[in-house]
Amino acid sequence: MEKFRVRGGARLLGTVQVSGAKNAALPCLAATLLTAEPVRLYGLPRVRDIVTMEKVLATLGESCQHENGTTTVTVGAIEAAHAPYELVRTMRASVLVLGPLLARRRHARVALPGGCAIGARPIDLHLNGLVQLGATVTVQRGDVVAQAPGGLRAARIEFPRITVTGTENLLMAATLARGTTVLRNCAREPEVVDLAQLLTAMGARIDGAGTDTIVVEGVGELGGASHRVIPDRIEAGTYVAAAILAGNGVRVQGCIPEHLTAFLDTLRAAGARLEVESDSIFVPGQGERLRAVSVTTAEYPAFATDLQAQFLTLMTQAEGESAITEAIFENRFQHVLELKRMGAHIEVAGRCARVTGPSRLEGTAVMASDLRASAALVLAALVAEGETIVDRIYHLDRGYERMDDKLRALGARVERYNPGPYQ
Ligand code: UD1
Repeated sequence: MEKFRVRGGARLLGTVQVSGAKNAALPCLAATLLTAEPVRLYGLPRVRDIVTMEKVLATLGESCQHENGTTTVTVGAIEAAHAPYELVRTMRASVLVLGPLLARRRHARVALPGGCAIGARPIDLHLNGLVQLGATVTVQRGDVVAQAPGGLRAARIEFPRITVTGTENLLMAATLARGTTVLRNCAREPEVVDLAQLLTAMGARIDGAGTDTIVVEGVGELGGASHRVIPDRIEAGTYVAAAILAGNGVRVQGCIPEHLTAFLDTLRAAGARLEVESDSIFVPGQGERLRAVSVTTAEYPAFATDLQAQFLTLMTQAEGESAITEAIFENRFQHVLELKRMGAHIEVAGRCARVTGPSRLEGTAVMASDLRASAALVLAALVAEGETIVDRIYHLDRGYERMDDKLRALGARVERYNPGPYQ
């Protein structure tokens, strides 16, 4: 299993290029199921979750060709409708194929993501919405089986709570439903807007993406299109955090700073200096003193849960006590135990982590537990004394494109290695 060896203390300098957004690329890939024509997508990051989604599409009869940063998705002769457990269990977002499959092929069989019961989290909101669009949904042998033999029909749907992939799934399904669908209490994330842009280019009629109400006028069929996915705001935010922690002048290039407004405002409140331009964020760095700031994660445009772990690492180096409240996911402080082992002062009570800083971090062996937690550990390792070994880097590789190469190009001492099967 691959690990990172990080020797802390190097100052980062230079420019880091932001990749395409994984969370925009995933629904865009799923949307290709809505048409029989080829769809060209530019700037998809080569990360593990994208490879998994491409494998899901392959089991559904599509093929993905890669050439010079362009991915072309084409439908083959066989149009299967079963996304199997081996793939879905490794990535919950595989459920994004449900809406498009049902809309165009009128039936879908998608394994339930591991450990979840129908009716409870995590995909009840997706399934309830599809039922409202006229589908029948049952669970057979661990798979969700959804059918709409006469096609989907429009409905007025209000999400009882905001869900990003739930909004995307129903948005895709509604593009081919008969009549005009109104989705209320929608996620307003930039990735939803990006998906709507692709769907519109394919011929869908969508109004209101990016607001809490999306209106979709169903059309008979959708065609091929070309689309460039937006830059990854979470990756950009992670490198901004790295630059504040360990930088001597780092430019995070090729991002949309507007997508990071809440995060950047919080960093400024903590005393970080940032120079924001149209498509880049320059962090002058050079050992400024940070102040503790408290935040609560929430849906876009508020502070993103996907940047909570990285921000928490930053707060271990800030003066004072910061309260970090995780309001989106119940169990998202798995990085805390490992950060404490590195010397951070953090107490968790329920959904709130209290971080007291600044603390001297020391390198040790730590275990990555999920995608963003892994990034938080790598950030901590950059400023820790001595050597940190970050294990289970495959979590990081799910969503960060070549993070080791990008950090090394900035001057970090990061090495990826494989210790062999017995370690
Ligand atoms: C997406 C992002 C993920 C991000 C999250 C919140 C993708 C591929 N992933 O995940 O990186 O952390 O948004 O910004 O875009 N919920 C239910 N039932 C449902 C659906 C969701 O109870 O049917 C709950 C979830 O458990 C969670 C909350 O709603 O507590 C929000 O989850 P949701 O917005 O759906 O997250 P994802 O779309 O899975």
